[in-house]
Amino acid sequence: MKSNYINLNTHSGINGASGNNNGKMSLGKSIKMYLTIFIATTCIYMVLYQYHISREPFAAGESVKPPLYIITPTYRRPEQLAELTRLGYTLKHVVNLLWLVIEDANKTNPLVAHTLDRIGVPYEYMVAPMPEKYKQTKRAKPRGVSNRNKGLEYLRLHATEGVLYFADDDNTYDISIFEQMRYVSKVAMWPVGLVTKTGVSSPIIQEGKLVGFYDGWIGGRKYPVDMAGFAVSVKFLKERPKAQMPFKPGYEEDGFLRSLAPLANTEIELLADECRDVLTWHTQTKKNAPAQALNRTRYKNTNLEYIDKLLVRP
Ligand code: UGA
Ligand code: MN
Repeated sequence: MKSNYINLNTHSGINGASGNNNGKMSLGKSIKMYLTIFIATTCIYMVLYQYHISREPFAAGESVKPPLYIITPTYRRPEQLAELTRLGYTLKHVVNLLWLVIEDANKTNPLVAHTLDRIGVPYEYMVAPMPEKYKQTKRAKPRGVSNRNKGLEYLRLHATEGVLYFADDDNTYDISIFEQMRYVSKVAMWPVGLVTKTGVSSPIIQEGKLVGFYDGWIGGRKYPVDMAGFAVSVKFLKERPKAQMPFKPGYEEDGFLRSLAPLANTEIELLADECRDVLTWHTQTKKNAPAQALNRTRYKNTNLEYIDKLLVRP
């Protein structure tokens, strides 16, 4: 190889490589030398880098943080992708989290899957339709209940540790609440803003103890709290194989928390600075009318044909 190279460049004939002392020859040698030095240096750097990585103080706390399981009910409507996008990018700030997105539907929607893929938070997308008898009713519906129970079922099968939290797709969450709930050993509670006429739903704390609940609607509930205001340890849930959420509008949280008995009020951990801070809000999005049908003749071969496919119509 070497001699060919030199021969080609020197036009010095068949035996040109045989050690003749000319300038071209030393050029070949020096190229080889530089190459050798370059490769050797690269190798040394790689070895040193590997060593550096292996010696890096192992961020023990970082990598073994208990997992968070965020159960999010969702359903088909014009706002759906916007809500999931907003919540998803909030969750993206949180490590070791699995987002269980469960749609009240008979089949998954590729538009939702596409949105979740784009956000990039680890997720499972499942469906759990509301039973027909509740769908038909003229009265209040148990919204998101089959979804949340499906999430609980998933955790009983696939999770062993960590904490679960029901995060409706339309609420607002400060990410610090996620780090606080991660270490809960049984059940934790904290205030939720924008709930009823009191403007907030919160445990009442006196001298460090839970002494009651503040909420514009008590309704005979043992735990008058909002869905966004509590988290439960996975181990604790699994020790209560029957715990689930009832299909009882207004009493979903209370029914679920009651099903976690035995649970003494003294065992409830109080987060958000012992419930002096508000880190979650029960925000509600204005309902949008379904998008009107696109005039396909008029807008043929325009971008609107693409956008139209991204609209979620009920
Ligand atoms: C709150 C609670 O979060 C609900 O669990 C409870 O059912 C409701 O109050 C109530 O007491 O009636 P709210 O904000 O009023 O919820 O209701 P939505 O935000 O419309 O629904 C709660 C969750 O269920 C959302 O994540 C939503 O996407 C989902 N949902 C709603 C469904 O899966 N299916 C529906 O038909 C409606
Ligand atoms: Mn809501």
